[in-house]
Amino acid sequence: GLKITVIGGGSSYTPELIEGFIKRTNELPVREIHLVDIEEGKEKLNIIFELTKRMIRKAGLETKIYQTLDRKQAIKDSDFVVTQIRVGGLKARALDEKIPLKYNVIGQETTGPGGFAKALRTIPVILDICREIEVLAPNAWLINFTNPVSIITEMVLKHTNVRTIGLCNVPIGMINNIAKILGYESSRLRIDFVGLNHMVYGKKVYLDGDDITTDVLRNLAEGNSITMKNIPDLVWDKDFINALGLLPCPYHRYFYMTDEMLEDEKRALQEKGTRAEQVKRIEEALFNLYKKVELDVKPKELEERGGAYYSDAAVSLISAIYNDKNEIHTVNVHNNGGIVDLSEDVVVELNAVIGKSGARPIASGKLPIQINGLIQAVKSYELLAVEAGISGDYNTALMSLMSNPLVPSIKVAKKILDDILMANVDYLPQF
Ligand code: NAD
Ligand code: G6P
Ligand code: MN
Ligand code: MN
Repeated sequence: GLKITVIGGGSSYTPELIEGFIKRTNELPVREIHLVDIEEGKEKLNIIFELTKRMIRKAGLETKIYQTLDRKQAIKDSDFVVTQIRVGGLKARALDEKIPLKYNVIGQETTGPGGFAKALRTIPVILDICREIEVLAPNAWLINFTNPVSIITEMVLKHTNVRTIGLCNVPIGMINNIAKILGYESSRLRIDFVGLNHMVYGKKVYLDGDDITTDVLRNLAEGNSITMKNIPDLVWDKDFINALGLLPCPYHRYFYMTDEMLEDEKRALQEKGTRAEQVKRIEEALFNLYKKVELDVKPKELEERGGAYYSDAAVSLISAIYNDKNEIHTVNVHNNGGIVDLSEDVVVELNAVIGKSGARPIASGKLPIQINGLIQAVKSYELLAVEAGISGDYNTALMSLMSNPLVPSIKVAKKILDDILMANVDYLPQF
């Protein structure tokens, strides 16, 4: 049987993951699951641990569940390590969202300067985890869910020997949304995804193999919403969608509707706080539910979080690797010729064939010209962010921020960078 280790086990998303394993016991023989967290997360970890045991018992399974603060012990001989950590917690996230807003720049935890700050905090921790995997579980697969997924996956593949795949629920979320709008089972839909994490486009949408892209774009242009819980649902401009001719992801609103999204964020800040502050309330309610001894399944309320349904992506991916399924998943991996306008060795988000040796990106040729520039710019930003996060070099950090399309000028980039470095001083050993 398999040994699975979940780092950040105290996450409110863990029941999602456990449900994914429970659903697939026939194909995935999981012997033990180790939930790892840190001192500050101990209370949450304990609640998740108890709920997980109830879920496993209710499902009639023998899988052994452990909780621990001893990361090395957990990693040792693991087959799969899942990372879902938030370095600095929601407090740091709130600052990621607020600092840019002071300068009229988008404040978001994965995109723009907020995502940059999160990357700087997260890189040293994931690097440490990878050093342990290299020694204690050299054959393990690291399934990384920790944001910003693109930058973290890029860092792991460039600076460690760990086999990794970065994962996001946006592609699956888009498929589920479209299925709901059009009234089909989502299993009948397929999308050719291409781009970067939180910057991914659908090139074509298929229903049972038939191209329905035009229908889907018409629906989007008519104002039908395709979004995630954490992203305001601003309606797309009809002419823009027709001109684009591709399906944007919910996060593209930050890039194509920057001014309206900024206004929305400022309004939200006054009315209900940043997303971190909203999540704090959602989380409190979730953990109060999780504590109830009569609860023994994943509760519906978890759908209020942006990452809902990620277990389908994560556990089906693990199963595709373990069972050498050679089936198509949308993942973050080295490009390897998938997109001809980008180097082989940069991380992209695209459809790939998944089997026991990992991911083989499906060749999608050149990027449509209308998205090539934005993708190239964001990729440059990400590569510089990896370099800054590893080296702790101020100039590299400045160049990275300045390369982000959401940052308007050197003056603003410097102010934001200085605020970020000051606010995160406890989490930036590299600087
Ligand atoms: P969270 O605040 O609940 O954190 C999860 C757990 O990580 C907490 O219990 C915390 O104590 C623990 N933790 C923090 N630092 C740690 C460390 N150094 N080592 C071990 N554990 C540590 O966060 P969350 O909302 O569950 O999100 C977790 C991560 O997953 C975030 O990075 C978030 O951005 C990401 N996420 C990704 C997607 C996606 O699509 N890829 C979707 C949702 C969330
Ligand atoms: C989205 C994304 C994640 C993101 C999360 C935020 O769907 O894919 O990468 O970080 O959900 O959700 P939250 O509920 O924490 O705001
Ligand atoms: Mn690389
Ligand atoms: Mn995501």
